[in-house]
Amino acid sequence: MALASQPDSAPLPVAPEAWASLARGDLEASTFWDFPDQGSPLGPAGDARFNGVTPSGCVRNLVRRYTRPGDLVVDPMAGSGTTLDVARALGRRAVGFDLVPRRRDIGRADARACPLADGVATLAVVDSPYSDNVRYGEDPRCLGRIPCEDPRFYAEMARVASEVRRVLAPGGVLAWIISDAYRAGRYTPVGFLLFDVLRRHFDPVDTIVLVRHHDRSGSPLWEHRARRFNFYLRGFKFLFLLRKRDPGQGGDIPWTTR
Ligand SMILES: C[S@@+](CC[C@H](N)C(=O)[O-])C[C@H]1O[C@@H](n2cnc3c(N)ncnc32)[C@H](O)[C@@H]1O
Repeated sequence: MALASQPDSAPLPVAPEAWASLARGDLEASTFWDFPDQGSPLGPAGDARFNGVTPSGCVRNLVRRYTRPGDLVVDPMAGSGTTLDVARALGRRAVGFDLVPRRRDIGRADARACPLADGVATLAVVDSPYSDNVRYGEDPRCLGRIPCEDPRFYAEMARVASEVRRVLAPGGVLAWIISDAYRAGRYTPVGFLLFDVLRRHFDPVDTIVLVRHHDRSGSPLWEHRARRFNFYLRGFKFLFLLRKRDPGQGGDIPWTTR
């Protein structure tokens, strides 16, 4: 009320430093996230040398936005353990599984059969294989063995999504990182195809563009090829944010009716 009674030209009674400090928060405010490296102010997080490591800044933002201290964060494809390290450094509980556990605090499990009870987690972070471009291990159940051009890829990701929904509490958030693919002259919109799967299981919250650094194709030679042969190198990943529906809202509702 006091503000409304002031003339338009009157300066607001807020010091310039206070306004400036609003823009200095360490939580991302927009849907464009660009973390130049894996480094974390919270201490070691994952293994920067691991092929496909999740940026620690990405996990930090997710944990701070969607959980409180003491909440449980789950990563069913934990890789080098970035999610676990960041969540624990922020005072959350964290459990991670992978077909190829690379640390003792990561359990061996298939993401389609997560050994957790129903409704225990507040946040699930999934940075899945994007196709069959990276060899994660020898286990035939590895989803990184299925090419993204194969409809089976999306059918199996749907099973992961369904399992994550089971493990999340109502209102819990799923954050899923994925990239499109271009190879052998063919573009596959993996992000849109996966989003189509996820929205059958969850309510969309938002989509973040996550800048892709340190990709193997990030070299002058590949940049030359992209220009010469008229295609694009991948510059970003999708980070899909979705929420588990509350029971009162019904089952899987077609997108167009919501
Ligand atoms: C992109 S990496 C995850 C990176 C991780 N967030 C990090 O920061 O290190 C994908 C992981 O999914 C795992 N994976 C593939 N198929 C799986 C499955 N069916 N169940 C569990 N993990 C699987 C791979 O072993 C690999 O570690």
